[in-house]
Amino acid sequence: GKVAVLMGGTSSEREVSLMSGAGVLGALQAKGVDAHAFDPAEKPLTALKDEGFACVFNILHGPFGEDGTLQGALETMGMPYTGCGVMASAICMDKWRTKLLWKGAGLPIPDFELLTDDSDFAAIEARLGLPIFVKPATEGSSIGVTKVKQPGQLKAAYEEARQFDPIVIAERFIGGGEYTCAIIDGKAYPTIKIEPATEYYDYDAKYFRDDTVYRCPSGLAPEIEQRARELCLAAFRVLGCSGWSRVDFLMDEQDGIYLLEVNTNPGMTSHSLVPMAARAEGLSYEDLCLQVLAAAHV
Ligand code: DAL
Ligand code: MG
Repeated sequence: GKVAVLMGGTSSEREVSLMSGAGVLGALQAKGVDAHAFDPAEKPLTALKDEGFACVFNILHGPFGEDGTLQGALETMGMPYTGCGVMASAICMDKWRTKLLWKGAGLPIPDFELLTDDSDFAAIEARLGLPIFVKPATEGSSIGVTKVKQPGQLKAAYEEARQFDPIVIAERFIGGGEYTCAIIDGKAYPTIKIEPATEYYDYDAKYFRDDTVYRCPSGLAPEIEQRARELCLAAFRVLGCSGWSRVDFLMDEQDGIYLLEVNTNPGMTSHSLVPMAARAEGLSYEDLCLQVLAAAHV
């Protein structure tokens, strides 16, 4: 039947979703799928039924697309959709609660603190040690993120992040490199190492700069690679994820692995990482899209 590619939306990652969606739409159409763009910012979801769609490929990023709300609406409509369900989507959109669950399950995460108006910023800075990453809990693509490097700047970074979300976290910097692991249909793909030319892997480095270096295979020793994939799969399962996701993690200098977050509707732009990992295993962008679509469920 007809497939709606949900793209755009109202979050601050709207532009990213439009890029991801254009890729997915083109791939599905190239494979002969009767796929059409559908932007929930332009019409109500009930139009999915009115327009005769049988299934949804959800490539919205951020709140109201990736956070469980839309998934709940689709469930009540009986409309099959790709990716994680209501609960996993909601938890993964919140980096703070994700960390709490992983911590509870004994999975490794960087040391962190919740920041509020009442925080003792100097004490937190002293405890975590500089540099510190400050992030709004529910944003993607590094929006609202600051890497605090100078003493006394934690509060300003908090206030910046606070504009995007009332929940703000401060995270200890782990210096052995940034990595990611794609999980598709219950299988962990080869990890990718990200080497941004910028201070960290920010919005520009993610989507626009061509000087970010991506290594796939990532160069981890085989046993570390194996352990990283197993940890990312465990992280995915603990949160109740299904279908596909991308798990971001950091390495320290002693081969320690630290889980960062799960992106339940990972980017599918020309610069994105899940397509890169899939390609490394011989899965083309088009076939990746077909595989994600085939796992759609209600
Ligand atoms: N949040 C962006 C889309 C990603 O993680 O790929
Ligand atoms: Mg993200």
